[in-house]
Amino acid sequence: MTRIALQGDLLDFTSAPSLDDTASPAVRYRPDHWLLIGDDGRISAVQAEPPPADWPRERHPGRLILPGFIDTHVHSAQVDVLGAYGTALLDWLEQHTFPAERRMADPAHAAQISALFLDGLLAAGTTAAMVFPTVHVASVDALFSAAQARGMRLIAGKVLMDRHAPAFLRDDVAQSERDNLDLIARWHGRDRLAYAVTPRFAPTSTDAQLAMAGALMSAAPGLYLQTHVAENTDEVRWVAELFPQARSYLDVYRHFGLLGPRAMLAHGIWLDADDRAMLAHHGASISHCPSSNLFLGSGLFDWAATRHAGAAVTLGTDVGGGTSLSMPRTLADAYQVQALSGRRITAWALLHAATRGAAQALHLGHEIGSLEPGLQADLVVWDRAANPVEARRQSVARDLHDAVFAWLTLGDERHVVSTRVAGVERHRRGLIATDSND
Ligand code: GUN
Ligand code: ZN
Repeated sequence: MTRIALQGDLLDFTSAPSLDDTASPAVRYRPDHWLLIGDDGRISAVQAEPPPADWPRERHPGRLILPGFIDTHVHSAQVDVLGAYGTALLDWLEQHTFPAERRMADPAHAAQISALFLDGLLAAGTTAAMVFPTVHVASVDALFSAAQARGMRLIAGKVLMDRHAPAFLRDDVAQSERDNLDLIARWHGRDRLAYAVTPRFAPTSTDAQLAMAGALMSAAPGLYLQTHVAENTDEVRWVAELFPQARSYLDVYRHFGLLGPRAMLAHGIWLDADDRAMLAHHGASISHCPSSNLFLGSGLFDWAATRHAGAAVTLGTDVGGGTSLSMPRTLADAYQVQALSGRRITAWALLHAATRGAAQALHLGHEIGSLEPGLQADLVVWDRAANPVEARRQSVARDLHDAVFAWLTLGDERHVVSTRVAGVERHRRGLIATDSND
């Protein structure tokens, strides 16, 4: 039974705000409202009046209630390399990431890490994610099982890499095709899970594997595609050497049939105007990962140019290149990346990209991303302040944008009071989440 009424200050979006309008009409702020969750785990009503007397209820006066965040690019195995010192992308992969990913071959380790990772997302206020496990089938099974146990909306797939990786992480075309078909049959469309064909990035797949991945996209309706593109200048040069016939890095993916409306490409820092037009033409989306881009020193993503070209921009933490599973921290980093480029971006554009915007980019706007009757009750109750200094800052806020922008700039896991997935509370501050919530 999930029936419950929550009272608080509801914040979501009814359309896409512009990047710079702090008074955007796309913002829907309903302070001191009641959100009713039905026994089916969906939002049944949003209203100013309290519910009938027989409804269980929770009052959160002065707290924000937002749709759960959607992290569109993150690596489950990379919790083991958070904050690893001293390298840019290609060395970082060799020195830190590949050795950590090797451990996911062990199903017991994969189960332990997957549970830790998903509980970490929930504790950070993220209820849905598009995730890279590793090349190992066990890592995919472990992740999907753990997400299923928590009722989460999760998109993931076996990482493909048949070259330029250590032998212990390499697969081959025939076996990886069979593994993908098995995994798609096992998980795609089950409960709230969906499968993403997941070539790691162009350098670690042969032409034959990329072609196989392209062909796999029609193996079942609704499959996603996730990969990395144009993150680092050394990587971009390497791709140009490996694929001399391609006009650009992104063009490699187009050539192999990987670009489409369910494609999510991480980074896209070093794209040009033709690439951005190509993204928009194919309906593909970018997962902007500012924490990772700053930490690995990859570069400054041009959000405005990508958006003006007509491609959707969503947000990824990219742990462990990124340093936190928290979306507010990631949004604060996104603001700073834009500031370093001489631009600014509002709290509204940032929050929209991490909720409704991401849901729509993933073709899930009918299910998640807004506080709308009929949608799944994936939502988070947030404290506006975690200490007296933050409380003081909130008390002098000049307007709603000022308050919410300061909150997201200073906010993190400490501000999460309660995270609900399909109406069921899966994280409560101070309580350790377990599967016994089922
Ligand atoms: N490019 C290829 N693999 C990776 C990865 O694991 N993390 C990041 N940030 N970029 C990549
Ligand atoms: Zn990544």
